[in-house]
Amino acid sequence: MSFDLHINGAAQTVDVPSDMPLLWVLRDILGLTGTKYGCGVAQCGACTVHLDGAPVRSCLLTVAAAAGHSITTIEAIEQTEAGAKVQQAWLDEEVIQCGYCQSGQIMAATALLQNNPHPTDADIDDAMAGNICRCGTYVRIRKAIHRAASQDA
Ligand code: FES
Ligand code: FES
Repeated sequence: MSFDLHINGAAQTVDVPSDMPLLWVLRDILGLTGTKYGCGVAQCGACTVHLDGAPVRSCLLTVAAAAGHSITTIEAIEQTEAGAKVQQAWLDEEVIQCGYCQSGQIMAATALLQNNPHPTDADIDDAMAGNICRCGTYVRIRKAIHRAASQDA
């Protein structure tokens, strides 16, 4: 089936089965490999993208459900104000260890700051709870989110 997708500001048409997860479309069809596969069952957050600005797990979201919505991936998140601040804060705080989970972490953190520009520790823990990091970078993630939030006027 043919689906019209709106990804990172560009229209894309893909011809794939309707139950194909958006993650496979992004990675295998469109070559947007910044979004990662971790668990495949919405438990780790590695595959997080934004659907109309909200964080979603692309490993379970079907292409049919994503069609017609605005999708943003890690490749374009720096084009948003919050995404640019988060990415800079990630660099400044040297958050990343192996890196595998970090696309999802940045997508989740950006969605948090877009909704709540000055989150508390509890807000951060709440918003980021579904994003697992096997390297245990949680303390630096929290620090980086506070740093990004402090860049606000
Ligand atoms: S790969 Fe989607 S949540 Fe783990
Ligand atoms: S940085 Fe290695 S899994 Fe998070």
